Amino acid sequence: MKHAGAFEVVRADRAGMEVRSQIAEIFADGFSQWLTYFSKDRDVIAKAFAHMFVLDQFYVALAGDRVAAFGACTDCRSFALALQRAPLRRHLGWFKGTMAAIVLKKEFQKPFADPPAETGSVEFIGTALSFRGQGAASAVIRHMLDHLPYRTYLIEEVADTNIPAIRLYEKLGFTEYKRNSLSPRQARMSGIHHMVSLRLEKA
Ligand SMILES: CC(C)(COP(=O)(O)OP(=O)(O)OC[C@H]1O[C@@H](n2cnc3c(N)ncnc32)[C@H](O)[C@@H]1OP(=O)(O)O)[C@@H](O)C(=O)NCCC(=O)NCCS
Repeated sequence: MKHAGAFEVVRADRAGMEVRSQIAEIFADGFSQWLTYFSKDRDVIAKAFAHMFVLDQFYVALAGDRVAAFGACTDCRSFALALQRAPLRRHLGWFKGTMAAIVLKKEFQKPFADPPAETGSVEFIGTALSFRGQGAASAVIRHMLDHLPYRTYLIEEVADTNIPAIRLYEKLGFTEYKRNSLSPRQARMSGIHHMVSLRLEKA
């Protein structure tokens, strides 16, 4: 059942004390499948990565004092995440923590080669398991589209296997503008054939 009107969307740095750990828990539920090399324990993933969210780049859909969904929107120049070696090493161990800092920085803090003007980059959308399918992610992205000053919004590199995410973005009006193929070996290992990028021009 949809409760789209039930969510209040606010910038994460204005949402109160518990917000970072709640975002981290949702992140661990939604993104752990990419991080199993570093830990298979979802609670460890939540603790290890909680530090990295740059809260003034994030918006959260709140249901009372619970974070139902989160997402970031940057200006294509700043980063939504800031990985630090010390907390990663503390929770993942010295070696994996160091690897996470090196490898994931390249993934999570990837600069735009030629940052486009007046463009928002929508990144790291996630909904808590208990709030999935209730319009929470839609509420976060709609809030960005309604309140941020950009003319164009990009969502870069969504796995073609992530049907819920692609349907969500298309439902909100995003359309595919680019797809990058993975190598046959990467495709065999991950099941992903393309990384799809989507764009929305605000009327
Ligand atoms: C993708 C994700 C953020 C969707 O969040 P959500 O709050 O459940 O999405 P909404 O309720 O706002 O759904 C809006 C639309 O998205 C599509 N959608 C959402 N979940 C879907 C699913 N499981 N299967 C197919 N379509 C889905 C539907 O079109 C839906 O509209 P409808 O309910 O009227 O059919 C959530 O599944 C998630 O956190 N996934 C893990 C993290 C992730 O992959 N993030 C995206 C990285 S690019």
